[in-house]
Amino acid sequence: MKKKIVITYGTFDVLHYGHINLLKRAKALGEYLIVGISTDEFNALKGKKSFYTFEHRKHLLKSIKYVDKVIPEECWEQKVQDLKKYDVDIFVMGNDWEGKFDFLSEYCEVTYLPRTEGISSTQVRDSLAT
Ligand code: CTP
Repeated sequence: MKKKIVITYGTFDVLHYGHINLLKRAKALGEYLIVGISTDEFNALKGKKSFYTFEHRKHLLKSIKYVDKVIPEECWEQKVQDLKKYDVDIFVMGNDWEGKFDFLSEYCEVTYLPRTEGISSTQVRDSLAT
């Protein structure tokens, strides 16, 4: 029988426990978790700059036991292609994105998980900088 495939996207800079909580719950929704990580070029396009490079973020994500596959996220339009390519069953994001990806429900189930309170990459970067 086909494995239930879950996909999620993010930058996952300065990896923190909010990310791990999200990945753990995402994996628990299925059997195979794919994580799309924003490339440094895509982040620049969004006006964001991560502390860790794409290669370092990828290395960290690949080392997490809940994560089965890491792919680069290079543009907004890519998600539909990925859902088809990987035959994805569930698309997951934190609820800071609530409603933003409902249009993908044409291709698979779309789920938003509650964010972990009190932590974000921005907060970690800011507190290390001061
Ligand atoms: N996430 C979460 N709880 C947190 C922080 C992030 O559940 N406290 C989730 C986001 O909702 C998203 C994924 O982790 O689905 C990747 O989030 P990302 O934007 O890379 O991390 P943030 O810490 O939110 O980064 P930033 O401060 O740049 O917004």
